This record gives sequence, structure tokens and C-alpha cells, in this order.
Amino acid sequence: MKQKITKPTKGKIDLLILTSPPYFNQEQYSTDEEQSYNLFPTYESWINGYIKETFQIGYDLLKKGGVLLLNIADTKELPLEIDTLSVLEDIGFEFEYEIGMKMQRDLGLDGER
Ligand SMILES: C[S@@+](CC[C@H](N)C(=O)[O-])C[C@H]1O[C@@H](n2cnc3c(N)ncnc32)[C@H](O)[C@@H]1O
Repeated sequence: MKQKITKPTKGKIDLLILTSPPYFNQEQYSTDEEQSYNLFPTYESWINGYIKETFQIGYDLLKKGGVLLLNIADTKELPLEIDTLSVLEDIGFEFEYEIGMKMQRDLGLDGER
């Protein structure tokens, strides 16, 4: 039987946990054309297209007072953290606090380092 996928109604989520968005082309999970770095091949288009669009959907789904938990880090090449936070503030999110976590390795490097 075919299942109908319905779009969630706006303002229906109390708590949104978005653990870890992709890091542009710094970690490539597959070569699938739907991967965000393929959909938006330049960093600027990726920030303003993929990141902004994705978090705007999350913002619209959250009820007032809802919380977004985000796992993000800079890479050696890209200031992902500040650029993502800037987009989130443009959308309307208010920054509350950051919890520092130690990375096992630098992004974009092989697993040995
Ligand atoms: C940093 S990983 C996080 C994986 C997992 N959510 C976690 O927390 O361990 C980013 C994920 O985003 C996915 N991704 C990349 N482009 C995407 C897109 N256009 N739409 C949805 N997911 C995408 C990747 O395939 C990858 O699984």
C-alpha cells in the first residue's frame, strides 16, 4: 500500500534536536546528487541555500520557546560555526549558550589523524 507523506504543520514541535548538519564539502558521505555540497556547489550558495532553507523549515516548525540543539564546528578551511550562527540569527533564533566538545580528529582529514 502506498503511504501518503504529509508535511508537518507549522508550530507543532516543542523541542527540535538537529544533531549535526553536513559540513559543506569537508566531509563527503556519498557522491549522491542530493548531497548538499552537490546541490549547492559554492560555499556561499550552500550557506544561503541549504543551511538557511533547512533551518528556516526548523524554525517554522518550532513552537514559540522551542529549542534547537546544533552540533557545528569550524574546519581548517571554513568558518562554519560563525556563518551558521549568523544565518540562524537572521532567521530569528536567539543564541543561548555553547557547550565545547573536543573533536576526535580534524574534519576533512583522514581517520588516522
Ligand atoms: C555530519 S552528518 C550527521 C549524521 C547524523 N545525523 C549524526 O548526527 O551522526 C551530516 C548528514 O547530512 C546528510 N546530508 C547531506 N546532504 C543532505 C541533504 N541535501 N539533505 C539531507 N541530508 C543531507 C549527510 O548524508 C550526513 O548523513
